Amino acid sequence: MQQHESTPSSRLLDLGQRYWLPVYKPRELVLDHGKGARVWDTEGRDYIDFGAGIAVNALGHQDPDLLAALTAQAHKLWHASNVFYTEPPLRLAEELVNASGFAERVFLCNSGAEANEAAIKLVRKWAAAQGRAADKRVIVTFRGSFHGRTLATVTATAQPKYQAGYEPLPGGFRYLDFNDAAALETAFTTGDIAAVMLEPVQGEGGVLPAAPGFLQRVRELCDAHGALLVLDEIQCGMGRTGTLFAHAHDHVKPDIVTLAKALGCGFPIGAMLAGPKVAEVMQYGAHGTTFGGNPMATAVARVALRKLGSTEVLANVARQADALRAGLARINDELQLFDEVRGRGLMIGSVLNAANKGKAGEILDQAAAHGLLLLQAGPDVLRFVPPLTISDEELAEGLKRLHAALGAFAQA
Ligand SMILES: Cc1ncc(COP(=O)(O)O)c(C=O)c1O
Repeated sequence: MQQHESTPSSRLLDLGQRYWLPVYKPRELVLDHGKGARVWDTEGRDYIDFGAGIAVNALGHQDPDLLAALTAQAHKLWHASNVFYTEPPLRLAEELVNASGFAERVFLCNSGAEANEAAIKLVRKWAAAQGRAADKRVIVTFRGSFHGRTLATVTATAQPKYQAGYEPLPGGFRYLDFNDAAALETAFTTGDIAAVMLEPVQGEGGVLPAAPGFLQRVRELCDAHGALLVLDEIQCGMGRTGTLFAHAHDHVKPDIVTLAKALGCGFPIGAMLAGPKVAEVMQYGAHGTTFGGNPMATAVARVALRKLGSTEVLANVARQADALRAGLARINDELQLFDEVRGRGLMIGSVLNAANKGKAGEILDQAAAHGLLLLQAGPDVLRFVPPLTISDEELAEGLKRLHAALGAFAQA
């Protein structure tokens, strides 16, 4: 077997500078391998992973069951396309339907944006089938949301910074304030709303959970006005908030749920789950994807789904969420950096206080320098989304490094 010689990290960083479309600004390190909630860079330095590849590596790195599923499938069949059946996507679809408690059918795809794109198309197809004119198929989304980067999903994303320069944007979206049920009630009087789409916990917009009762009110209003409820659980789903589906906290039945990220635990996959009102709307030829439901991705996702819904993993989410919040409170008592710590389960945001607003990026630099991979959710919020299987020792070590990083930041 041909081995690639290892390349010095300075040269790799240079390749990133020269050849990548510079739409990201990664930190100046090159990750090489991982185990559990630890990763190592090409220089051999280790990091505690509080970001999990943006809420993706929910079972940590090198989970033995994921590895076994992937390698077993790799020795059988890599790809078949959706014009032939293979077993893993069929079994995954059944397992997702059974786990969801509401869905009847599943569309498998490759990413979150694609899952949301499918959801948007399904809403429109459903509205069309109801005889609604094109201008009566509006989808309401909420300020601070994030639904993806394709043209339709970036338009659903009610944050101007992601849309600027991409005009003309597709029509048919209307934006309201998150958690403002009264505004939604008023909006429905226009009679042109076909669906409301939201994240039960907004992720990129600042780790902001739906207020108690908000989802239930949205469901009631959707029912009263003949509209669909679409939940984007791409970041907050798959155990992240302490239940397999995030909306379980709110006791509502959605019409459509989208998943991605942790569903593949690092292998790209997305899914759109369709409930009884919409499951039969899209028929032969209505939508498609070459790679969606790929046997490698779905073999991995079957294991991920089983493990992420297990009582062990969900109990660990509750345990480590308490430990993380307690650690953040201790650090804040000493350093006074946050106004608020919010979120649900292991999806936690620390909101920087007035003196430190806009400085999340600087803190992330300090964190990396102190051996901690951390994320932000906008410039004012530190985002904590570690693997759901993080151990007591890894979490304690991560908090120790965070303390050191924030101490260095506060003194700089
Ligand atoms: C809630 C939510 N929806 C959709 C997306 C888009 O997913 P992807 O980047 O896989 O297209 C993201 C990604 O961060 C997300 O957090």
